[in-house]
Amino acid sequence: MKLISIATTGGDAPGMNATVRAAVRKAMLENLKVLGFENGFVGLLNNDFRSLDARGVGGIMHLGGTFLKTSRSDEIKTKEGINKAVKVLTKNKIEGLIIVGGNGSFKAACELHKSCDIPVIGIPATIDNDLAGTDTTIGFDTAVNTALEAVDKIRDTATSHQRVFVVEVMGHTRGFIALEVGICSGAEVILIPEIKYDINKICKKLKESYKKGKASGIIVIAEGAADCTEIAKSVEDNTEFEVRLTRLGHIQRGGHPTAYSRLLACKMGASSIEFLLDGRKKDMTGIKGNKIVPIDLEYASSEEKPLDEKLYDLALQLAI
Ligand code: F6P
Repeated sequence: MKLISIATTGGDAPGMNATVRAAVRKAMLENLKVLGFENGFVGLLNNDFRSLDARGVGGIMHLGGTFLKTSRSDEIKTKEGINKAVKVLTKNKIEGLIIVGGNGSFKAACELHKSCDIPVIGIPATIDNDLAGTDTTIGFDTAVNTALEAVDKIRDTATSHQRVFVVEVMGHTRGFIALEVGICSGAEVILIPEIKYDINKICKKLKESYKKGKASGIIVIAEGAADCTEIAKSVEDNTEFEVRLTRLGHIQRGGHPTAYSRLLACKMGASSIEFLLDGRKKDMTGIKGNKIVPIDLEYASSEEKPLDEKLYDLALQLAI
């Protein structure tokens, strides 16, 4: 193997830069040349790339976002798009492709592999943490800490004004961010798509805690769990609380990656090169416990990752 390529795809995640740095530098050590596709799959479809070397990935470890840029491509999801991308890979004699992204990107990567047999390694980088077979993903820890810092600040004003705040966090269709932010911020209520909620029970709980002397509260809602505007209105209409709503939005995707996200990026970036050299064809760099393990890419992107419901129960037990 002499020439490989890398792209950052889908929603950016803090730690993508550290991932590319690690993969490129490990590749250099193994005498592999690396091309970086610009703008995710869009660069792969349009033969738009740059050569990457050790110096070219210097000084980016601590930066959020992705210096290679990213995009959400509909074209790569089509048969024509796959054929176009295969032509670019073969024309440039690329012998391996590393995709740093989430499940939509991994599905496309699997299709690419099926069409041309070029080995494809996925590195899980998404704030949503919604990939099966890996304990966590690059960027998730950073997003949780960013959201947590915001909720802690909101708690200050909620307490001062004796209000309930409804805080919506990201997570796409899953509740991983909401669950960790909820338990770590001591939220009185956590709404996640994986667990059904009853608005009457939520209001009852808040009313009871008000009677017990809790004059403020935090409701953390995963974006895929409920309409946060409706929840805020129901709580205001059915309890004695004045309610405010904050949607944290894309702030959760930016900023310096935490030490944990960087560490994971270094380990997974370097492992992706080892996987290619070991002859792996279609795997994701997963982490289980403290060990990087290969996980079939198709499995990672199509199976539903289980959420720790015991953690949810614990959060409720502690929020008395
Ligand atoms: O997948 C990451 C993510 O931030 C999700 O949490 C969110 O639902 C989605 O991307 C938002 O995507 P976009 O930035 O394209 O609106």
